[in-house]
Amino acid sequence: MAGNNKGPTGPDLSKGVSAGDLPDGGMMAGHIGDDEILLVRQNGTLYALSAHCTHYHGPLADGLLVGATVRCPWHHARFNLETGEAIAAPALSPLTCWQVEERDRRVFVKSKRARPTPKATGSANEHIVIVGGGAAGFAAAEMLRRRGFTGRVTMLSNDDAAPVDRPNLSKDYLAGSAPEDWVPLRGDDWYAENKIDLKLKTEVASLDAKSKELTLGNGSKMKFDKLLLATGAEPIRLDIPGADQPHVRTLRSIADCRAIIAQAKTAKRAVVIGASFIGLETAAALRARDVEVHVVAPEKRPLERVFGPQLGDFIRALHEEHGVKFHLENTVMVIDGKRAVLRSGDGLNADLVVIGVGVRPRIGLAEKAGLAVDKGVSVNEYMETSVSGIYAAGDIARWPDPISGERIRVEHWVVAERQGQVAALNMLGVPTPFRSAPFFWSQHYDVPINYVGHAEKWDTIDIEGDVMKRDCVVRYKRGGQVLAVASIYRDKESLEAGVAMEQEAAKAQNVAD
Ligand SMILES: Cc1cc2nc3c(=O)[nH]c(=O)nc-3n(C[C@H](O)[C@H](O)[C@H](O)COP(=O)(O)OP(=O)(O)OC[C@H]3O[C@@H](n4cnc5c(N)ncnc54)[C@H](O)[C@@H]3O)c2cc1C
Ligand code: FES
Repeated sequence: MAGNNKGPTGPDLSKGVSAGDLPDGGMMAGHIGDDEILLVRQNGTLYALSAHCTHYHGPLADGLLVGATVRCPWHHARFNLETGEAIAAPALSPLTCWQVEERDRRVFVKSKRARPTPKATGSANEHIVIVGGGAAGFAAAEMLRRRGFTGRVTMLSNDDAAPVDRPNLSKDYLAGSAPEDWVPLRGDDWYAENKIDLKLKTEVASLDAKSKELTLGNGSKMKFDKLLLATGAEPIRLDIPGADQPHVRTLRSIADCRAIIAQAKTAKRAVVIGASFIGLETAAALRARDVEVHVVAPEKRPLERVFGPQLGDFIRALHEEHGVKFHLENTVMVIDGKRAVLRSGDGLNADLVVIGVGVRPRIGLAEKAGLAVDKGVSVNEYMETSVSGIYAAGDIARWPDPISGERIRVEHWVVAERQGQVAALNMLGVPTPFRSAPFFWSQHYDVPINYVGHAEKWDTIDIEGDVMKRDCVVRYKRGGQVLAVASIYRDKESLEAGVAMEQEAAKAQNVAD
């Protein structure tokens, strides 16, 4: 979902704009030559930064100013107004900053400002090891180097590919609308340039928490001073006859995605088992490739457990508009060669079957090492496990969420990256609690759905706008309290809801947010 760059718009900021057009708390998009610039006045100070988010090019002028930050409307990345630093994922690269001055009631943007170099931190002898080359692991390694860590960083991943933009694997890349070079989070050279020793195809077999040592799959040992476990989750495979055939796939890695793409090139019909996010996004991507798609799932409405009935009905209708056929309140009992036999007795011929029935967190390493686990690896608000110096982040981590007041574990890209970042800061000795409102997005055809907060159960759903018209804010409440907000094309409200949740929680905990 990269934005289209239609070329510079707005006033030429080198010529100045009237100071009256930029009140306090205001933003204005303009340009100098081809550089698109966001001009901001916040708490009496003027800032000029790149106008587009470094994640997928979201227009920051449509975002939200919160304290000394600007938040992106699309997936809630946060940038420091003063330095341009991407302080909270999913954006990782900084914005360019410009000098700006006000004279004679006009505001002028001047030349680009140099990026501050980080102060060296940590000791050269220190060794931080990250197990996992996914969202949390990558974001942690990047943050360690960004903040000037001078010690060794080793990232161990049993994947054969360097960290990728996993959400893209069920969206644009799978649909054929994004080239493969969009998928890696960084180019291969980046790891060497940043002295990150990325060891691919490297399984970590066990962890000895006491002696701070890992045993790798080949039997070799690796010592660490601090460790981040970021082993993510694995797709649940179905224990039904025929599920082990080569045309029956799950989707987690780029290798899985390439295999589905290869089969989709000749497939006429696909069966997607499971109306999960990944199942339905895969259905949409396969429709873009002109493959006939049937979705088989046990529930009455797709995604009702997460979104409630109204959005569930909308998602079903949206997919049906694009030709997807649903077989709900049904399951696949057997995959007999190319024929999926349903509980209802119907049979569906399929050249490709994709199983999207959920994932299981990979907590085996932590569990066997004796770390505290509770359907996830238990961490405190600093992402530290029950053993000092060992951290966990991402899909495996169960943390104390100050917003819901519960210990929760989620499977969201942005949460995993931010937890990796927070774990890195804590490893560097900068005490940083994880207090962000959980956020995820999902994309079905041209319709993005944003979700902020966490509601496993609610007693009321309030809808503002019109779900079927793709213009709505859906609030999930319990006892009058808003637990979560889903929205379609209401980005500002989604951002505001996240901020309100974080501020409420901070107030309740009596901490500065
Ligand atoms: C196709 C797809 C689309 C998605 N789309 C979205 C979306 O739109 N929005 C959203 O919010 N979320 C989305 N998600 C979920 C999101 O990608 C995950 O929540 C996120 O990747 C979790 O990050 P993580 O670092 O915890 O785990 P991962 O990204 O899965 O990384 C785990 C890493 O650990 C490695 N590993 C595991 N065990 C070992 C071991 N023993 N030794 C060595 N290495 C090991 C794995 O190979 C992998 O590199 C999507 C997921 C998938 C699969
Ligand atoms: S485009 Fe800005 S966070 Fe994704």
